[in-house]
Amino acid sequence: MHTRSCSRIRRAGLVFAAMTAMLSFTFLTPAFAADKEVIPSVSAPEAKVAANNGDSKMVGQAACATCHAEKAEAFSKTFHGRKSLSNGKLANACESCHGAGSGHADAGDVAKITNPKKLEPAAVAALCLTCHKDKALMMWKTSPHKTNGVSCLTCHSIHEGEGRQSLVKGKTDTCLECHTSQKADMRLPSHHPVAEGKMSCVSCHNPHGGIEGNLKADSGEELCAKCHSEKVGPFAFEHPPVADGCMNCHKPHGSANDKLLKQSPQTLCLSCHVRAHGNITAGATTLANLEPRTRCTNCHRDIHGSNRDSLFAR
Ligand code: HEC
Ligand code: HEC
Ligand code: HEC
Ligand code: HEC
Ligand code: HEC
Ligand code: HEC
Ligand code: HEC
Ligand code: HEC
Ligand code: HEC
Ligand code: HEC
Repeated sequence: MHTRSCSRIRRAGLVFAAMTAMLSFTFLTPAFAADKEVIPSVSAPEAKVAANNGDSKMVGQAACATCHAEKAEAFSKTFHGRKSLSNGKLANACESCHGAGSGHADAGDVAKITNPKKLEPAAVAALCLTCHKDKALMMWKTSPHKTNGVSCLTCHSIHEGEGRQSLVKGKTDTCLECHTSQKADMRLPSHHPVAEGKMSCVSCHNPHGGIEGNLKADSGEELCAKCHSEKVGPFAFEHPPVADGCMNCHKPHGSANDKLLKQSPQTLCLSCHVRAHGNITAGATTLANLEPRTRCTNCHRDIHGSNRDSLFAR
């Protein structure tokens, strides 16, 4: 069992390395990436919102701007706005999301235009997903956010959001609005440096879903391995609970114990090694210098595994 999960982790490491290579390639060659993005010259979302707009025709962004000048000006600075000039998917700019607007543009009749804010979460998602079927959104259908009625627009604000992804409040604060217990965890003495801004909730999570727990990996262990591969091995002498899962000993967000440990180190070790050193808790030790409160990892230092010592003691 241990061997299997262990090789799974290693495979993931390789896949990750390959993905990283691909990603950096994509970033270095934006022209190539953009070419790949373009889909057939159909105005895809038309289908989703057309129903609301009657038999309107496309009138183009300039027509909308005659009445919504501020909106159009602000939009042109967003990522969607900047892309709309060059990307076939957004060729119809405003109407790509709001539907054909000739009926509405005549006199500003709001019944003849679609405001996504007034749609159900599922209809919003359908609108956005006509263009965004990419890898990041592949698992949306089964994601806990979708099944709990969280809308794309809870986190993304097309006209007023921050940064490239138009986020309501950034890559961490957007999440903390709802996930208050993780906010508290992140303030415990040992924590991943999220509050410090060195990483964000989405360093580890894909808010659009995942195979397990919205993680950006197929499992907790594969996730940890992305940044802490040295703890994963392979080692000549494996410590079975490590290969079995980092969460046997660690918490992901924060802990009152050192090094994100679930329990104080001593208690943690003894929870499995009840009889280590002849039951240390009862005071009967087999090593002359071993005090009941001595940290086990003072001696068993390479606790994640070792290539030199079967007792991880170097
Ligand atoms: C003749 C002026 C005029 C033109 C042209 C116009 N609008 Fe409007 N629009 C209005 C008015 C008036 C309202 C209602 C007040 C408001 O929300 O600003 C409105 C409201 C809206 C709303 C909100 C609807 C709602 O249900 O809340 C959207 C979305 C919208 N317009 C999009 C567009 C788009 C896209 C175009 C171009 C196809 C466009 N408008 C062209 C005048 C216009
Ligand atoms: C990528 C999709 C998208 C594009 C493109 C887009 N909008 Fe919007 N628009 C939205 C969404 C979603 C909302 C609902 C409120 C929000 O999330 O900001 C909205 C809301 C609006 C509203 C209603 C504002 C309100 O306060 O309720 C107006 C007016 C509007 N958009 C006009 C425009 C105009 C004009 C353009 C083109 C310059 C445009 N939109 C392009 C998605 C889009
Ligand atoms: C008509 C097609 C279309 C629709 C509909 C659409 N988008 Fe987009 N969106 C695009 C394009 C094109 C880009 C630019 C992607 C690129 O060129 O890399 C983009 C970019 C984005 C990005 C930034 C992506 C990145 O690479 O960082 C986010 C976030 C986003 N859209 C969210 C939404 C949301 C939320 C909705 C629904 C309210 C929506 N989009 C509707 C076409 C669309
Ligand atoms: C719970 C909040 C949340 C919800 C709900 C949400 N998003 Fe996102 N989305 C984010 C965050 C945060 C990012 C930035 C992710 C990152 O940087 O890794 C993002 C990134 C994106 C991107 C860029 C993808 C990429 O490659 O990084 C797109 C496109 C997008 N979202 C579209 C959508 C659409 C469409 C929906 C609804 C079906 C949606 N989002 C729902 C929070 C959310
Ligand atoms: C270092 C990676 C990492 C970071 C950063 C991270 N998480 Fe997690 N999160 C995890 C892992 C791993 C799990 C699964 C825990 C398990 O299986 O016991 C998890 C679980 C969760 C859960 C499910 C409930 C729970 O606590 O088990 C929520 C909700 C959550 N995270 C939200 C957040 C939010 C919000 C942030 C940002 C403040 C965040 N996470 C940052 C790795 C991370
Ligand atoms: C509007 C409230 C809301 C926002 C904002 C929100 N979430 Fe959630 N999230 C939920 C709900 C509801 C659930 C499902 C119930 C639960 O597990 O608590 C959930 C579940 C999760 C889970 C657990 C998945 C699982 O399988 O156990 C993770 C992880 C998570 N969210 C991460 C995030 C991240 C990261 C962000 C920010 C990008 C975010 N959430 C923003 C409401 C929200
Ligand atoms: C995206 C990268 C990333 C991922 C994924 C990640 N970590 Fe970390 N981890 C970090 C960073 C950055 C630090 C802080 C290192 C520092 O301050 O020197 C850290 C620190 C730690 C620490 C030491 C904490 C302390 O108090 O000193 C532990 C333990 C840890 N991570 C375990 C995990 C586990 C378990 C997982 C999987 C749930 C995981 N990490 C996933 C980046 C990551
Ligand atoms: C058997 C329990 C156990 C398991 C399982 C475990 N760890 Fe640890 N980990 C520890 C202990 C104990 C420490 C603190 C070591 C110390 O204090 O010298 C630690 C420390 C760490 C640190 C901080 C190390 C440093 O050098 O500061 C990281 C990162 C870490 N573990 C990652 C992981 C990852 C990734 C996994 C899964 C592949 C994992 N751990 C599985 C017990 C465990
Ligand atoms: C989740 C259970 C679990 C936890 C927690 C755990 N271990 Fe282990 N450990 C094992 C298993 C299983 C083995 C394999 C040998 C065995 O069955 O005793 C092992 C092996 C060892 C060995 C090698 C023993 C030998 O006979 O080769 C040492 C030393 C050790 N652990 C020390 C520790 C220390 C120190 C801690 C605390 C940081 C710890 N372990 C935490 C389950 C655990
Ligand atoms: C002062 C150094 C030292 C400390 C502290 C220490 N050990 Fe050991 N441990 C050893 C040595 C040396 C051996 C091999 C000789 C022996 O078996 O007595 C060993 C053997 C072991 C073994 C394998 C043999 C057996 O008894 O099953 C386990 C498991 C173990 N230690 C767990 C622990 C745990 C758990 C702690 C903390 C409660 C701990 N050790 C603290 C030095 C130490």
